[in-house]
Amino acid sequence: MSGSVLPTATTPSRSSEILQAFVERSWKSNAERQLNKGIDLVIGKRDGYFIWDLEGERRWVDCGSAGGVHSLGHHPPMVADVLRKALDDGRDTGLWSIPNAAYLQLQDLLTRLAPTRSLNRSVITLASTVSVDVATMFAFRFTRRQKMLAYRHGYHGHSGFAALVTGSHEEGIIDYYNLPKGHSVFFDHYGDLDELEARFSDDIAAVIIEAIDYETFVPASEAYLKRIQDLCRRHKALFILDETRTGIGRTGKLWACSHYDIEPDMIIAGKGLSGGIYPVSALLVRQEIYDVCMNQHKYAYISSLGGNEMSCLVASKVLEVASDPGFLSNVQKVMGSLKVALDKVCSESNILSPGTAFGGLVTVVPRDAEAGRNLSRALFEQGVLVHSVSEIPPYAVKFLPPLVLDEAGVKLVAEALKNAASKVARS
Ligand SMILES: Cc1ncc(COP(=O)(O)O)c(C=O)c1O
Repeated sequence: MSGSVLPTATTPSRSSEILQAFVERSWKSNAERQLNKGIDLVIGKRDGYFIWDLEGERRWVDCGSAGGVHSLGHHPPMVADVLRKALDDGRDTGLWSIPNAAYLQLQDLLTRLAPTRSLNRSVITLASTVSVDVATMFAFRFTRRQKMLAYRHGYHGHSGFAALVTGSHEEGIIDYYNLPKGHSVFFDHYGDLDELEARFSDDIAAVIIEAIDYETFVPASEAYLKRIQDLCRRHKALFILDETRTGIGRTGKLWACSHYDIEPDMIIAGKGLSGGIYPVSALLVRQEIYDVCMNQHKYAYISSLGGNEMSCLVASKVLEVASDPGFLSNVQKVMGSLKVALDKVCSESNILSPGTAFGGLVTVVPRDAEAGRNLSRALFEQGVLVHSVSEIPPYAVKFLPPLVLDEAGVKLVAEALKNAASKVARS
C-alpha cells in the first residue's frame, strides 16, 4: 500500500535538525523564542515527571507541565488505559448530535465534584480557550451586556473572545490582530481592591479571573475574590473563575475555589483534565445560566468534536484520580516538601529569596529580571525545565511540576536550583 504520510525523506529525525526546520519553514517565532531561552529541546521519551530529548541523551524534571496539562505525570498509565480500551471497544468520537452515556457520565461527575452545589451543569469542549469563548457568550446572553472585566497581565486564550480577555502586554494579541476593543476592560494590579472597584460599571457582563496572579503565581486573598463576587452581585455581572491551571488538584484541593468562601457563576477547567492524553475542557455553570444559554435556542451551542465520547471517557478517569483524597493529600505533602527545599536553597543564596506556594504552584524570587532569565537557563542546563519567569515584579521563577512528583524528584529540583543559583551568582 502506498501513501504513508509519516515520516517522509524530508522529515528530519535529530533534535537539532527539527529545531532548524521549525526556524526555516514552520513555527519560527515559537522555536526562536525557545532557543533564545536556551531551550534547545525536542521531546522524546517521557514518563511521570521526567522528559528526555529525542536522542534519549538528556533528561529533565518537567517543572512546567505545559501549565498543568501533565498534572498526572507524562503518559499516566490509568488514563492511557481508558483511551486504549475505548479504541479496542470500537469507540470513536461519536456523533455530536446523538446523545451518549459518556457525556452524561462526565457531566454527572462534574456536578458531584463541583466546588459548590450551584455549579450543577456543564458544557464539555476541546480546550479552555473554547470554554472561555463559550463562557463569554453565555455572559453576554445572560446579562444582555457585552463587556468583560479581566486582569491586564492574565491569560485566557489566544482566539475568539478568549483573546479579548487576554490583555497582557507580553502575550496579549488584541492590537496585533486589530481585534475589537470595546468588549474588554482591564485592571492592572492583581489584588488591588480599589482599582477593581474603579473599573467596575453597570455594563460589565462578567469578570474573568484566576485564583492566582497569572504572571507571578501569587495566590488571591480571600478578601479579594470575595470582593470580586460582591461587586459582581452588586452590578448584576457574572463571576467566572478560570481554573484551567489551578484546577484538577493543582493547589492540593480538586479546585482552587474550595480554598475560598466564594460561589462563582462559572468555572473553567482544562489542561490537566486531559491527562495530557486527549484534549478536553469543561465549563461548569449554574443551571439558570445553562437553561437560558444552552436550551432556549435549538442550536444554542454546537461543536462537532467538543464533548466527544473519547474526551469524556478520559476526563472522567482524570477526575476520578485527581479527586481521590489520598492523591490530594500526597500533593499537599510533596508540594510542601518542595516549598521547604526551595526555601532552604534561597536562604543559602545571595541572589534568591523565597517566593509563594499554593500547592503545586511554587516560586523563588531572583534579585532582578535578568537574574531570573539566567536562572531559568541555568536550571535547564541542570536538568530542570521551569514553567516560566514572571514578566512583572516580583520576577519570580515559577515551578509547576506534575503532581506525581515525589521526594526524590524534590531533591533533584532543589539540587539543580542550588547549582543554578551558584552559577548565576558567579556570573
Ligand atoms: C488560565 C488559562 N486559561 C485559559 C487558557 C487557554 O487554554 P488552552 O490553550 O488549553 O486552550 C490557558 C492556557 O495557558 C490558561 O493558562
